[in-house]
Amino acid sequence: MSAPKGPHAPQIGYRPFERRDRKAVATILYRTGFQGESLEGTGRFDDRRLFALVHTEGYVAFHARDAFVAYDRADGKVVGYVLGAPDSTTHDMLFRRRMAWRIALRAFLVSWWRYPESFRQVRMWSKLKEDEAAPYYVEYPAHLHIDILPEYQRMGIGEKLMRLFEERMSSQGVSGIHLITSNRNLKALPFYRKIGYTMLEQSPGAYWRDLEGQVSVVFGKSLASPCREQTGATGSDLAQN
Ligand SMILES: CC(C)(COP(=O)(O)OP(=O)(O)OC[C@H]1O[C@@H](n2cnc3c(N)ncnc32)[C@H](O)[C@@H]1OP(=O)(O)O)[C@@H](O)C(=O)NCCC(=O)NCCS
Repeated sequence: MSAPKGPHAPQIGYRPFERRDRKAVATILYRTGFQGESLEGTGRFDDRRLFALVHTEGYVAFHARDAFVAYDRADGKVVGYVLGAPDSTTHDMLFRRRMAWRIALRAFLVSWWRYPESFRQVRMWSKLKEDEAAPYYVEYPAHLHIDILPEYQRMGIGEKLMRLFEERMSSQGVSGIHLITSNRNLKALPFYRKIGYTMLEQSPGAYWRDLEGQVSVVFGKSLASPCREQTGATGSDLAQN
């Protein structure tokens, strides 16, 4: 269900990510993490801690200054985020060095007996082909992940967060951004097209266990020449809805 637009719509603020947002980010991730839909009650991946370790913890550890959150001005609740890395090759290397062992530790000490489905899923992910050599890394070295709570979708929050991330990348001289989604994510596909991303490639490949017909879709966008933007600020509010 989406929140309404218009005079009764929540007032949304935007600011750089702070460490205190980690829990909220993990919650949003979990509520949107299965091809754009919630993992709650699916039985696909019940180890929420492990899910965050795989998908968001690396970004907030290595690239916290490139991440932004949207929050509801009524109560300060974080309702969406964008995070990513300006250089995907460096990020992949950092992930292998500093996250892989933490993920393995959690998976073997906790998940395999308590959340066996999560353990099996992570084992499958660990065998997926690494993508450092993807040709689009050259023109689109940055990549990102964006998620908005279901009840706050279709309010313009995603578009605003994408703009903040793009400005942040531009200010660092990054030439382009890529991102990977799924043919089954019927929210993400029109969203990325609407905000100027073009499809770079599609390839069949299962990300989720026991799910037929999965195709991964890579989008990219070139960025204008570097410009210094207000997104270099820390802590302060960036914009109003
Ligand atoms: C995809 C997502 C980030 C979009 O964020 P959002 O805040 O809902 O999107 P916006 O309100 O900024 O939408 C901007 C435009 O994108 C398009 N769009 C966004 N969501 C859409 C949807 N569900 N269906 C069709 N078009 C959509 C529309 O053109 C929209 O403009 P409009 O509302 O004026 O028509 C959000 O739906 C989401 O978090 N989904 C779940 C998690 C996810 O899929 N993340 C991406 C993983 S790759």
